[in-house]
Amino acid sequence: MAIDNFLSIQGVSKRFGGTLAVNNVSLDIARGEFFSLLGPSGCGKTTLMRMIGGFAMPDSGIVAIDGADVTALPPNARPTNMVFQSYAIFPHLNIADNIGYGLRKLKLSAAEREKRIAASLAMIKLEGFGQRRANELSGGERQRVALARALIMQPKVLLLDEPLGALDKRLREAMQIELRELQRRLGITFVFVTHDQDEALSMSDRVGVMSKGKLLQVDKPKALYERPGSREVASFIGTMNFFEGRVLEAAADSLTIETKEISRVAAKPNGARAFAVGDRVLVAIRPEKLSVSSTPASVNSVQGRLHAVSYLGDHHLLQIIVDGIREPFIVLAPSDGKGLDENAMPDSAVWVSWPADGAIILPAA
Ligand SMILES: Nc1ncnc2c1ncn2[C@@H]1O[C@H](COP(=O)(O)OP(=O)(O)OP(=O)(O)O)[C@@H](O)[C@H]1O
Ligand SMILES: [Mg+2]
Repeated sequence: MAIDNFLSIQGVSKRFGGTLAVNNVSLDIARGEFFSLLGPSGCGKTTLMRMIGGFAMPDSGIVAIDGADVTALPPNARPTNMVFQSYAIFPHLNIADNIGYGLRKLKLSAAEREKRIAASLAMIKLEGFGQRRANELSGGERQRVALARALIMQPKVLLLDEPLGALDKRLREAMQIELRELQRRLGITFVFVTHDQDEALSMSDRVGVMSKGKLLQVDKPKALYERPGSREVASFIGTMNFFEGRVLEAAADSLTIETKEISRVAAKPNGARAFAVGDRVLVAIRPEKLSVSSTPASVNSVQGRLHAVSYLGDHHLLQIIVDGIREPFIVLAPSDGKGLDENAMPDSAVWVSWPADGAIILPAA
């Protein structure tokens, strides 16, 4: 998707006392894009969203939507609507009036208003709930009402702060699909906050990874997973195993890296980054790229001790302790009966190996 600067955030910062909650973030989001902000608790996701919606003023920087600078505008003068992390719906109104609340200022006929509310109730699968009160709904149902109330106004940009956080796993997964489909159908630009990486990867056109107020990387889900740009992103998106090393040989299509554990690691340069002899690097390997055997492989093999095996249905998750590396290596092995299984002896010596193109090479911090 081409970035047309529909929603443009330029050099935005926000400080609360000693905390720099958002640190010089610049970001462009396209019209109709499903964009997610992903990051650990306290990294500044809500603060950034509030500044897009006009609920907080940046200390510096600009927010522009559809060509207009909205930095100084209050929330109700922006073409945005926000579904808050702590979804508030009015307790004194029934569900239909909650959903239709914002429609009052549009001066619609009673029939048109009712039609829209009925369509909204159907959309969130709460047909027949219109006359109930907020306290007669479950947490998840209330969350869906908050969503419908924001969507019924058909904003250009919908800001959703962990809108599925209170739902159980099944409903959450169903709503992820619903929401994605709805977003495509309506063509509304979504800025979606979550700290659940699976949710962000499965729903979004692009994801921005935040940490400590900074936007570390913005990419499509597959690119973030396959080509993380830093150790922080690599370990936040999925599981990653790391070796520290130094480049011994650097050719156009191959790298040789020396680590403490293995004297010569064969690797392929990946991504746009070029490495030179002597550079300090991290060799990062996903659990599914590693294999485990009782004898060493011809390349990239390191000896370890089996620490634990857990059965996960179609896979086994193995933890292997490699001398000199603090965290156990995590290996995801198909449970097809060919590899190790849950009866493998703890503490037995094993070899962990991976193909030359199985690792991602990152600059050391
Ligand atoms: N009104 C405020 N006053 C003081 N500090 C604040 C305020 N709002 C946020 N902060 C601080 O700013 C930082 C970022 O907070 P923010 O709510 O943006 O995080 P978040 O990424 O949304 O986290 P979570 O995933 O837990 O919701 C935190 O350290 C938080 O304590
Ligand atoms: Mg938050």
